[in-house]
This record gives sequence, structure tokens and C-alpha cells, in this order.
Amino acid sequence: MRKKKNLLPRLEAVSDFFIKDISEFEDFSNIYLEIGCGKGTFITESAKRNPKRQYVAIEKVSSVILLAAEKAARENLKNVRFYLGDAENLRDLKNSNFCDKIFLNFSDPWPRTRHAKRRLTADGFLELYKKLLSSDGEIQMKTDNTELFDFSLETFPANGFELSEVTRDLHAEVAPWNIVTEYEQNFVSQGVPIKRLVAKLQ
Ligand SMILES: C[S@@+](CC[C@H](N)C(=O)[O-])C[C@H]1O[C@@H](n2cnc3c(N)ncnc32)[C@H](O)[C@@H]1O
Repeated sequence: MRKKKNLLPRLEAVSDFFIKDISEFEDFSNIYLEIGCGKGTFITESAKRNPKRQYVAIEKVSSVILLAAEKAARENLKNVRFYLGDAENLRDLKNSNFCDKIFLNFSDPWPRTRHAKRRLTADGFLELYKKLLSSDGEIQMKTDNTELFDFSLETFPANGFELSEVTRDLHAEVAPWNIVTEYEQNFVSQGVPIKRLVAKLQ
């Protein structure tokens, strides 16, 4: 994405929505966490539908998380916060079990084998999510990418997760609860089937 005009003042204008230091995660409990929120359609719509639930979204690209935070500000949402940074930073946290759900929506597929460790469903990340999730917590994943989906169908069970709600064509089903993300909208309009799964700790 091109560098946003006035990025810094615009970030400043919505700074109340941001977690400034990773240590602030140490105050959280029972949150719903999205990793890689992009422009924030999913997290803001989720927060609107469930005002009693606290939502946190992580995104490493400042120009897109800005748009997500501006959306939350326009909607005057009180139950969503944003963290600008890499999900890897969560490894530094002292606390654990503070997420009831983790959402991975259209995560970067990293198709090359030598980059496999960067996939958000690679073993190293699943180890991290095990630490973050509460005992009956779950991960919900959606993707357009068959290779990433097949990879995840192996890594989740290999790391002690039980899979459910596995589908290779979410939009062929009746799913009024589904919140369509920006990437999802794009893929659906191109006729690409959306894959989805839910993974719970056994
Ligand atoms: C393909 S986009 C999908 C955006 C959005 N979830 C959607 O469905 O429209 C993936 C997003 O995840 C972010 N991302 C990827 N890896 C990340 C990481 N390790 N930590 C934080 N954000 C990450 C990228 O910067 C990008 O904005």
C-alpha cells in the first residue's frame, strides 16, 4: 500500500484506540483477538455485534491499521483496541490464557517452503496461541489459499488442536454469522471458494 498522507497526525488523532506498549496485554482477560486485521472490517463489525466483548486487533502495517482504527473511531466503538506490531511480539508476554478466541482471516500464505515458519499456522505460532488461549478457547481461521489451508489441517492436529466446522466452501453454506472481510469480499467476487476451520485445544 502507498504511504498514507499525514500518516502520523492521523495515527495521533486515533491514538486512544491503540495499545502503546505490549505490556498492556498483561491487563487483558477473555478477549477476542484478531491477528492481521488489515483495514479492520472484521474486528469493527464483530465489536459492533457484541458490545459486551472486548476485541483486540494486531496488524504490522501502519497504513492499514490506521484505517481500521479510524473505522472504530467513526463507529464510536468502546470495546476494540489496536496494536501496531508483529504478532511475534506476543511471545514476550508474561501472562497467558487471556484470549477466548483468536481469529486468523486471510493470513499471508508464505508459499515458499523456506518461509513456512512465517505462516501464522506454523508450529511456532501454534505454540504461542496455546499459551494465549483460555482452556476452552478456540482459533477460527478463514483463507482463500488451498495450500495454507491444507498445511493448517496438518499443523493444528499435530500441535494438540481438535478441528471442527471444516469447510472448503463457506459461501455455499448458510452462514448469517459470517463477517466478510476485505480480502474475503475480493476473493468471493472472483469466485474463489473460502476455506474455514475452527481449532480447539484437546
Ligand atoms: C492478506 S491480509 C488480510 C487482511 C484482513 N484480515 C482481511 O481478511 O481482509 C493479511 C494481513 O495480516 C498482516 N500480518 C501478516 N503477518 C502478520 C504478523 N506476523 N503480525 C501482524 N500482522 C500480520 C499483514 O500486514 C496484512 O495486513
